[in-house]
Amino acid sequence: MEEKLNIKAVLEYYIMSGVDEILGDEPFGVGLNEKKNIQEPQIIKKAPVILTSSPVSDSDRQATTELAQATLSACQNAHEICAAAQTLEELRAAVEKFDGCALKLTASHTVFGDGNPHARLVLVGEAPGADEDRIGRPFVGRSGHLLDKMMNAVGMDRNSYFITNVLPWRPPGNRTPTSAEIAVCLPFLKRQIELVDPEYILILGGSAANALLDNQEPISRLRGRWLEYEKADGKKIPVLASFHPAYLLRNAAQKARAWSDLLRLKKTMQ
Ligand code: URA
Repeated sequence: MEEKLNIKAVLEYYIMSGVDEILGDEPFGVGLNEKKNIQEPQIIKKAPVILTSSPVSDSDRQATTELAQATLSACQNAHEICAAAQTLEELRAAVEKFDGCALKLTASHTVFGDGNPHARLVLVGEAPGADEDRIGRPFVGRSGHLLDKMMNAVGMDRNSYFITNVLPWRPPGNRTPTSAEIAVCLPFLKRQIELVDPEYILILGGSAANALLDNQEPISRLRGRWLEYEKADGKKIPVLASFHPAYLLRNAAQKARAWSDLLRLKKTMQ
């Protein structure tokens, strides 16, 4: 009986924390966008795991090699698909059929880019959240509403820009995407940028900035200054990075900085 009550408490804790999938034996961390003010249940501390210099087993080595090969072949496949897609609609259909990323297995929808396909500006976020996964469009949840308000305030709406993400599938529980998932999906983002061919890019958040600009700089250092993204044909597009709206929802004090980034973007675009 006591055991049953504990299981119930743990499940309630997961639900309150925003966990909506159970995929493995170990629980995932609470989603970036959905932190709630909740009391944590008592945590039973385990003895620390002491890493010894025991050699990696052959089966571990084999599994790692197989994973690396699968990632490589999924990346190659993604590149081929992108090269073949001559329009956004062809690319959308190809991404929807693509089976090289396991995130698709847990997602409800493929969330492809949305908005004006001939826009001068492309906005890039990290990955769909729960609302985007349910509806199948980018930035339609709480952070999307904040973004809409901020963009409206500088005179832009979804008819004036194209908006997309590094990943077209939601990572379960909004966990941070792995570098393999980013590597496999990045060609889709880059091809969307090529097909829209914008004059400017606005990147939302550090994770998207690091993926697209291929660096490891924190967003606090990247934001607010003009950077460059180089397309496959060598053409450079001016890029402004700013805070992710989900971060602004948790850190209202940073809204002034994000606002000044948008004003800078608007001024340059004019
Ligand atoms: N956060 C993102 O980065 N993208 C979305 O589409 C929604 C939330």
